Amino acid sequence: MAFRILHISDVHTGPPFNPAAAERLVTDAHALQPDLVVISGDFVQRADFIAQWRVAQALRDRLPKPQLVVAGNHDVPLFHLHERLFAPLRRYQQHISPDLNPVFTAPGLVIVGACTAHGWTVDGGKLYPDQIAALRERLTPFGPDTYKIVVWHHPVALPPTYQRKRVTITNASAAIRLLDELAVDLLLCGHLHVSFVGNTRDFMPDLRHGTYIVQSGTTTSRRGYGDEHGVNTCNLITVEPDGTRVQHLRLARGSDGFQPIAEHWLPRQRALVDG
Ligand SMILES: [Fe+2]
Ligand SMILES: [Fe+2]
Repeated sequence: MAFRILHISDVHTGPPFNPAAAERLVTDAHALQPDLVVISGDFVQRADFIAQWRVAQALRDRLPKPQLVVAGNHDVPLFHLHERLFAPLRRYQQHISPDLNPVFTAPGLVIVGACTAHGWTVDGGKLYPDQIAALRERLTPFGPDTYKIVVWHHPVALPPTYQRKRVTITNASAAIRLLDELAVDLLLCGHLHVSFVGNTRDFMPDLRHGTYIVQSGTTTSRRGYGDEHGVNTCNLITVEPDGTRVQHLRLARGSDGFQPIAEHWLPRQRALVDG
C-alpha cells in the first residue's frame, strides 16, 4: 500500500516570507490529502522575533495532520546570546513542537527526525553522540522489511552545482556511515533552499546499503538558491512496496498552485552482498 508524504521545508516566516505561497500551500496540501506532512526546519527567519513564531505556529496549525517536524538553524535566536547558548530551542519547543527528535510509525514504515541545529553554530549543524545513540536505538529493532526514513534539517552532502561551503553537518561522513549501518532508505533534508535527489553512494561508493537523499527547496520564502531563486518548492513523496516516487512541486505563476515539475523513481535498495 502506498504512503504519501508532503515534504515542506524552510518556510522562514519573516522577511522575505511569501504569504501568498503559504496560503496556496495550505489549500494544495489539503487537496493532496497526504498521509503525513514533514517539515524539515527553518520555521522562522529570525528566531528572536515573537511575531514570526506566531505566523509559523499558525501556518503549522493550518496544514494537514499528522505532522513530523524538526528544527533548523534559523529556529535558534541570534541576538539573545544567553538564550542562544543555554536554551537555543526554547522558542521552537514553545511554538512549534516540544519534541526535538520525533518518531512516526506506520505499517512497514518508520520515520525518525533529529534536531541538527544547536546554539553555538550559526549556519552549520551537528549530530551529537547522544543523538547518534538514540537513532541507533530507535532504528535497530526494525528489520529490512521496514522502510526507514530519517529527517534532518542540515544535509550530509551537497548537490554538484551548489557553491556555498560549510552548510552540511560538521560530522557528515560519520552521519552517512551511520545511515548506512542502520540501512536507512531515505534521508529528507532542507537548509539549502534548492530541490535535489541523490544517493549517499554518489559521495561514498564503498557503502553497503546506500541512502537516497531528497532535499526540498524553500516552500514559502523568496530566498531560493540558484535556479530556484524567487521560487517556492516542496516534494510529494510516495512510498510504495518496490520503491519511492519523488515529485518536485513548484509554485506556478497565476492560479495553478504547486505543480509537479520533475519526478524521480527510487527503487528499493538492498544491501550489497560481499564477493
Ligand atoms: Fe533555510
Ligand atoms: Fe537552514
